[in-house]
Amino acid sequence: MNVLRTKSVEASIAETVEPEHQLKRTLTALDLTVFGVGVVIGAGIFTLTGRVAADYAGPAVVFSFLIAAFCCALAALCYAEFASTVPVAGSAYTFSYATLGELVAWIIGWDLLLECLLGASVVAQGWSTYFVTFLGQVGVTWPAGLGPEGSFNLAAFLMVAALGALVCYGIKESMRVNLVLVAVKLFIVLFIIVTGISLIDPGNYAPFVPDAAGTAGASGGWLHTPLVQSLFGIQPQVYGVLGIVSAASVVFFAYIGFDVVATTAEEARRPQRDLPIGILGSLAICTVLYIAVALVITGMVRYDQIDREAALARAFIAHGKDGYATLISAGAVAGLTTVVMTLMIGAVRVVFAMSRDGLMPEGLARVSGRTGTPLRISVGIAVIVALVASLTPIGKLEEMVNIGTLAAFSLVSLAVPVLRRTRPDLERGFRVPLSPVLPVVAALVCLYLMLNLSGETWLRFGIWMVLGSAIYAAYGYRHSRVGLHDEPAVVDVAR
Ligand code: ALA
Repeated sequence: MNVLRTKSVEASIAETVEPEHQLKRTLTALDLTVFGVGVVIGAGIFTLTGRVAADYAGPAVVFSFLIAAFCCALAALCYAEFASTVPVAGSAYTFSYATLGELVAWIIGWDLLLECLLGASVVAQGWSTYFVTFLGQVGVTWPAGLGPEGSFNLAAFLMVAALGALVCYGIKESMRVNLVLVAVKLFIVLFIIVTGISLIDPGNYAPFVPDAAGTAGASGGWLHTPLVQSLFGIQPQVYGVLGIVSAASVVFFAYIGFDVVATTAEEARRPQRDLPIGILGSLAICTVLYIAVALVITGMVRYDQIDREAALARAFIAHGKDGYATLISAGAVAGLTTVVMTLMIGAVRVVFAMSRDGLMPEGLARVSGRTGTPLRISVGIAVIVALVASLTPIGKLEEMVNIGTLAAFSLVSLAVPVLRRTRPDLERGFRVPLSPVLPVVAALVCLYLMLNLSGETWLRFGIWMVLGSAIYAAYGYRHSRVGLHDEPAVVDVAR
């Protein structure tokens, strides 16, 4: 078996001009940055920050955000180099196919699918929580059995179905809706920061780093303990320095999405210039906003009294600002919508790239002549996300999204020095400084954060990977276009 076979960069680019597989090149640097901010700011800041501050880190969650941002910045540099060198759909999957071989590419594609599918589902669930809260605040009651706590989350289902229709209709149209919703979301986040500052009580920052505390007696044993603590026999604990790091591996969720910008590489007008701007720009904007929001929320409410579900809205209610809370809930509804949509687009693009390569059934990758989008995949992804979002319990899948993304990040980082050595001739619109040191550090930081996720998450991740490997062995390996020597003609890559 030759699972290390690679696909040439030229072949990847040549496929993007095959008429039946061609996507429209319409996106500008601004579109890509907005797309990035649209997918990054979401459930992470609206719901996770409060929960993590309360349960793991206290006000020091600010440091957790910085650690996660550091990890993402390192990975973002690697992504920027790749996306500017191999500007085709599929992001990390495509990059690794050109460098580390087909099996690693499959694994990364499978991880990205986990990130996008479950990420969209988790955020759709968070959306339904805010939606029902907002309805309640304006005096409308949503049937409890059909909401986030019910057995069928109809709110999440309908929302995913509507977005799925939009994604099928066309990328440029989706981007327009995105632009409006991102503007609303940014306004709300800035509103929270500006109005929240005057409500800060400096006393809430003491202690800024709460003393480490044991979690002895917590049910579940190693399943509910960060793997690194179980492996090294450390008494499971929260707060303190270890709490800050565990919190970083969870708030990492808040940054997920900037890498999805790279999945649209093939639709960028000038990918070599615009992709690095989109990826690094959206990450920088989000980091600044997150630190500010984290400082405001932990300053407004003492960390152990922060509400775990709707922290931001509740913090304002605690200060007698109910009207602000309603506005924030409405903003969260708008804000989380864009995240779900962008993650769904990311999932479509990953499957598109994999099926175009024959690793999944090729017929899936056909682009509709009327809409210019891969219609079959778009419908399939919408159905899966709608079912997962409406039928699985809330609060269970976030860590799965993180582990899949971190695994992909670490492999992509390692692929940068590999491609530099194997293909020094390629034109690189952007170059990672200090390679190979920086990419190796990036991979190690990602791995360390993965180890800070719970044993249960590792177990589920293992099952997902076994499933993926079985599909590759049974289908992908045999039908791969590279394996069948059915690559398209090579074209000149210098553009
Ligand atoms: N980063 C995205 C969010 O916070 C996934 O919702």
